[in-house]
Amino acid sequence: MTEHIGILTAGGDSPGLNATIRGIGKSALNYPNMQVVGFRDGFRGLVENRTVSLNSDSFAGIISQGGTILGTSRDKPHRMLIGGTVMDMTDAIIENYHAHHLDVLVCLGGGGTQKNALHLHQNGLNVITVPKTIDNDVAMTDVTFGFDTALGIATDALDRLHSTAHSHHRIIVVEIMGHRAGWLTLGAGIAGGADVILIPEIPYDVNSIADAIRYRVRRGKKFSIVAVAEGAMSVQCAKKFYAAEDIMRNADNKKDKKQAKADLEELKSAHGNHTLELSQQLEELTGLESRITILGHLQRGGTPSAADRVLASRLGTACVDMIQNNQFGVMVAARGEGAEAVPLTEVAGKLKLVPLNHPWIKAARQLDTNLGD
Ligand code: F6P
Repeated sequence: MTEHIGILTAGGDSPGLNATIRGIGKSALNYPNMQVVGFRDGFRGLVENRTVSLNSDSFAGIISQGGTILGTSRDKPHRMLIGGTVMDMTDAIIENYHAHHLDVLVCLGGGGTQKNALHLHQNGLNVITVPKTIDNDVAMTDVTFGFDTALGIATDALDRLHSTAHSHHRIIVVEIMGHRAGWLTLGAGIAGGADVILIPEIPYDVNSIADAIRYRVRRGKKFSIVAVAEGAMSVQCAKKFYAAEDIMRNADNKKDKKQAKADLEELKSAHGNHTLELSQQLEELTGLESRITILGHLQRGGTPSAADRVLASRLGTACVDMIQNNQFGVMVAARGEGAEAVPLTEVAGKLKLVPLNHPWIKAARQLDTNLGD
């Protein structure tokens, strides 16, 4: 019988984390002798033994709050910066897990957290995860909470930018979060009626985008909205990037691997300005004025949508049911209207990208949206 549950939130925050903590906490406390302890700031709190005791009062009023009452960090158990040195803190985590007499550790997080949780599970701990991220890119789950809220925020931004772009006869290039997956940009681009949608899964040709914008001008539409994902890349840039990634994956000696890693870092840092560059290129190619808007962390902040609160509550409560069934080493995945336990081995290290034949891509094309190809 599970009596002691530890819970932490790791990785970038996502609207709905508090609703999930509440879902887990409230349904766990319905069981006799059940105790819930929170660890602050992700895996670091578990290393440093910084805790928050969670009782029924802790969950009052948090369903509507953004962020996470536990705090979060991107720290990894096996590679944590401690006093200026990167150290493997797995043993310290195992020690604290036992010191708190935990029967299970619940980790709320995105792709990286699934890997870290699997690592702890393979080191003998009972671990269960609940997937979150505004990027919606965690494998083996229909959807992640936070995505619906961010989709609403980004769509609202596109709606607002339409009127100013229209009034000034400008191009507005809007950068939307998502380094590897384009779900958020594609969804918001469709919902917000963007004229061009650029996602990491489809490398773009700037001439194709300029042609589409010039065609709009010929039809009397002197403004255009370009929704671009953080991680979208031109064809040329994508070629270099994937080649460096390939070398890094396949290099059989340390020297080549190190060089490929350095090349990759350089490419990433050069890519940091790509939205500005794209805007300047479009200005030159079309003769229209162009402006950029980077939505950034606005997309992650604030009140979760109703749909995210329902999803978070559904997965949080299902998590406690799985704990009661001793289902460990699994992720609580959203499947249809319900939830399913998926082994972490099937999730860790995988990304859910937008398939090129996805109905959203098809819909965007049928709506005459330019996808950069
Ligand atoms: O949580 C995922 C994400 O929102 C990505 O879309 C974005 O690239 C990244 O987090 C930003 O992370 P940070 O808050 O660490 O800058």
